[in-house]
Amino acid sequence: MQLGIDDLSFATADQYLDLADLAPSHGVEPAKYYVGLGQERMSVAAPDEDVVTLAAAAAQPIIADLDDAGRAAIRTVLLATESGIDQSKSAGVYVHRLLGLHAACRVVELKQACYSGTSALQMALALVTRNPEQKVLVICSDVARYDVGSSGEPTQGAGAVAMLISANPRLVQIEPLSGLHTTDVMDFWRPNYRTTAVVDGRLSLRAYTESLSGAWADLQAQGGPSFTDIDTFCYHQPFTKMAVKAHQHLTKVVGAPRDPEVLDAQIGDSLRYNKQIGNSYTASMYIGLISLLDHATEDLAGNRIGFFSYGSGSVGEFFTGLVVPGYRDHLRTAEHRRRVDERRRVDHDEYLRIVAPANPVDGGEHPIPVTSRSPFRLAAISGHQRVYVRSDEAAEAVA
Ligand code: CAA
Repeated sequence: MQLGIDDLSFATADQYLDLADLAPSHGVEPAKYYVGLGQERMSVAAPDEDVVTLAAAAAQPIIADLDDAGRAAIRTVLLATESGIDQSKSAGVYVHRLLGLHAACRVVELKQACYSGTSALQMALALVTRNPEQKVLVICSDVARYDVGSSGEPTQGAGAVAMLISANPRLVQIEPLSGLHTTDVMDFWRPNYRTTAVVDGRLSLRAYTESLSGAWADLQAQGGPSFTDIDTFCYHQPFTKMAVKAHQHLTKVVGAPRDPEVLDAQIGDSLRYNKQIGNSYTASMYIGLISLLDHATEDLAGNRIGFFSYGSGSVGEFFTGLVVPGYRDHLRTAEHRRRVDERRRVDHDEYLRIVAPANPVDGGEHPIPVTSRSPFRLAAISGHQRVYVRSDEAAEAVA
């Protein structure tokens, strides 16, 4: 029985900041971001967007295409995030309601920095192994925020990926072997009392590549495929240059040729959406996968993809997947391009206004103005409750 990703869809915030508009506030040339970090734009979540609205927007097209039996087959929703909105209640429970899923469903939230989406994927595969009639909806959703003026600021972003995990998948079959690497390191973290992450930038780059070496060595020790058995690679992308550095590192570790054109053919298509979106933490590597599938000019059927998922703190996993013949008939490329291309540009002042407000903590009534055109919105924080609505329902209520 083959198991893997049957459907894939992503959403990003409705607005973006061009990094050329951020560069003057840091006293640097835009080239530092465009070339040095490999990032051109970053999605900026509006006050009425968060991990719940992004997650629901990512999953909506997948759910809309399922009939009643298909929806009922989703008996588990796993939501991975490191920018959660509650210490107790899973963001996935709000998403479950917004999507109109059946009550006969378990919903849980997972956390280990940017890695937890991969853990969710592995858990989903295990559940489907037990009952191949069942489907699991895995959602990775994050809003990446650093302090204004910090060196992490140009590596912000926002996005969510929804993946339907099933037997006989239509897109990517996930192979059983994984290379794992866990080590306790303080490279990036966010204490409960902070809304922005704390990062030791230099250490984080080293921790990432050391985790890659460790996970790769473990994959080889488990009897996994060799470097030459892998056609394309998809890395966690805190900024796209990190994936380039990671791939250069791996080629050095295995002693593979490092011709720039070959390296670009192996990873280039996986970087295209992320350059425009920025870091989306848990979603980042899976947006990279969608980017690869949406942009590859040749048919990738039968190709083996190597995935390196990294979450600071730190956990790394290297695993592989095979692209399923006919996958192109099931991609959502036009919708993905629309979501990236139709975002509204904000200038630097507007961006500062968006990221300034802190969540109210007084338990009062705090309506949140309509800013985004997302299909789902955070409409208010009222009596300590976050109030989520479908935008079409809100419009009907006003009419
Ligand atoms: N033209 C072209 N390139 C330029 C340039 C110019 N005018 N000016 C500078 N550059 C280049 C630099 O040479 C450098 O390139 P190399 O690394 O290839 O040498 C690149 O731009 C970046 O410059 P700096 O190293 O000076 O950048 P910085 O110190 O300001 O910050 C950073 C870089 C540490 C990554 C910072 O953005 C940061 O802390 N980001 C958040 C942490 C992060 O993303 N870490 C990644 C690993 S951790 C992880 O993956 C988990 C996660 O999601 C957070």
